[in-house]
Amino acid sequence: MISKTTINNIYEAARVEEVISDFISLKKAGSNFKGLSPFSQEKTPSFMVSPAKQIWKDFSSGKGGNVVAFLMEHEGFSYPEALKYLAKKYNIEIEEFIKTPEEQIKYDIRESIYIALSFSCEYYIKNLNNTDMGKSIGISYLNTRGFSVESIKKFGLGIAFNEKKSFTEQALKKGYDISILEKSGLTIKDGKGGFDRFKNRIMFPIKSISGRVLGYGARIMSNSKKIAKYINSPESEVYQKSKVLYGLFESKSFIIKEDNCYLVEGYTDVIQFHQKGINNVVSSSGTALSSNQIMLVKRLTENITIIFDRDQAGISAALRGIDLILEHGMNVRICKLDEGEDPDSLARKHSLDYINDYISSNSLDFINFKASLLAKQYENEPTKKAEIVNNIVKSISLVQDVIKRELYVQTCSKIMKISEDSIFETLSRIKKNKENRFRNQHSKSISIVKNSGSKDDPIDELYELEKKIITILILYGQKTETFNESILIFSEVDDEIIEKNKYVKSKVYEKIFLDLQQDEIEFANKEFRDLFDILMTEYQIKGFVSIEKIVPNLSSKLSGIVSSIILQEEKHFLHKWDKKSIHVRLPSENVSVMVTETILSLRKLLVSKKIESLQENIKLKNNKSILEDVMGYYQLRRIVSSKLNRVL
Ligand code: CTP
Ligand code: MN
Repeated sequence: MISKTTINNIYEAARVEEVISDFISLKKAGSNFKGLSPFSQEKTPSFMVSPAKQIWKDFSSGKGGNVVAFLMEHEGFSYPEALKYLAKKYNIEIEEFIKTPEEQIKYDIRESIYIALSFSCEYYIKNLNNTDMGKSIGISYLNTRGFSVESIKKFGLGIAFNEKKSFTEQALKKGYDISILEKSGLTIKDGKGGFDRFKNRIMFPIKSISGRVLGYGARIMSNSKKIAKYINSPESEVYQKSKVLYGLFESKSFIIKEDNCYLVEGYTDVIQFHQKGINNVVSSSGTALSSNQIMLVKRLTENITIIFDRDQAGISAALRGIDLILEHGMNVRICKLDEGEDPDSLARKHSLDYINDYISSNSLDFINFKASLLAKQYENEPTKKAEIVNNIVKSISLVQDVIKRELYVQTCSKIMKISEDSIFETLSRIKKNKENRFRNQHSKSISIVKNSGSKDDPIDELYELEKKIITILILYGQKTETFNESILIFSEVDDEIIEKNKYVKSKVYEKIFLDLQQDEIEFANKEFRDLFDILMTEYQIKGFVSIEKIVPNLSSKLSGIVSSIILQEEKHFLHKWDKKSIHVRLPSENVSVMVTETILSLRKLLVSKKIESLQENIKLKNNKSILEDVMGYYQLRRIVSSKLNRVL
């Protein structure tokens, strides 16, 4: 709820090249800057920043956008977090929106909870590091667990002493409100005021992705089986277990860099991995992995490696996680540890090289992992085997990417010694069942066609054409061109309708606008539709578009598309081609042909789609009027096709 004025001030002050050079070293390349991609391991630069347009593009990962998009990608910030970061960097005062009284109260409470939690964290840290009791009980325990001083500091570990209400009393004395302390989960209220929730425990602060303390996991310092090993903060207005991953704040930049995220079970596993130099690791802290948690990781990488104990609990947890991860379009591998090991013990016993080797040679994709669960003695038992194959195919059916899915089918066929055909058959059956369930919801169906031979996938073609129109609008929208328009007139001489060609001068954006409007064409892709509206509005009001003016107001998704289109044009700078003066550019001489061709191709495609859907209809109910419609569209398609042939 940052005010519009503040956002404008931030965008005016922030320079994309300055912000990025805090993270990456940039070198001048023509009018742009280039550097090594922070999103991949590379030796030659493919990361580019345009100070003039205030955008960036990473050609190795395909990411790009404005200054805020960079912070969101690189630091894993949310939109408001990125704005706040910039405001701080450029000394801009943040003016918050006027909220309704209820919103204001809720907001104030949340902020107060954050402040109380941050105070408590400092309090527990001081207890641990700056008192004799902290050193003699806490530090010595952590030492026996093998935690280094740096790790204790990095993860903000602290201690709650064996005292009933020392924290609560201290906080009240400092002016914290008892109801806020209770809402933070730090204090439990009773008749006589309140007492501390955590007592005689090591405190592991749980942080948000931007590093704010949200709550705690608190561990006893013994191996007593009589009391709970961990007491965790209750859910609160700032802490929802399913939306947090332990270690994400400390690991996020490494997850991006390694393009992989290790998922482990506990707090101590995360810390020991970090201590060993494996920094791309998070923990779901003993709860089942949730959709929200996966989405947090997906902002940073598409790859998750689950490292779990070999026991039944570990295996069940891994199995649950796999399908959820696949459903989110991500890749999952599973690393099984040896009997009795967990990542904590592995890290304490072995060298970094050993662990890296161990993980890479013991990680399986989900198919091999599931297949490995089929014990040797059952290998020839058909029902057991069928059960596992069905289970694997069910997971494969969750993969949306057609190519990936086909590769998984091949793997499954090889490992389980089942023909690809029967796997595809099972997939179609699962698909049909799903479709039956969603029939009325227009759910997007997944096509399961083996070796799908159609070269021009209609969905992709539509996407490409819409993208091309946006590209033309951005690059050449304000150019004036001569277009060859054909018009239909009634010729009295011939007594029939004839087609006449006419040359018309017009701005490219006007031509596109009128042509699309005439056919009532609306883009199917939401982003392109939004961009089209924004660009057209600019052109119609001002007659031109200055990219650097509109980019700040675009969502990070839209700014990503714009930067991709513009910097694609300037990619040659990366290779010093400019010096040898080889310019690779879209042919700007033939803009008029390109515009006509693109619009006609789009029309043809849409007409074909219309015909297809009508033909589907005919199959259902053989209706004469639909048939007439189809004939009409056939004729239209012929006209469009012949025009297209003339242009090409
Ligand atoms: N957990 C919990 N409450 C418990 C036990 C476990 O919340 N009573 C959660 C914690 O987040 C813990 C994770 O489950 O980190 C994994 O459990 P476990 O492996 O038992 O704990 P570790 O953190 O590995 O603790 P330690 O190695 O000190 O035994
Ligand atoms: Mn453990």
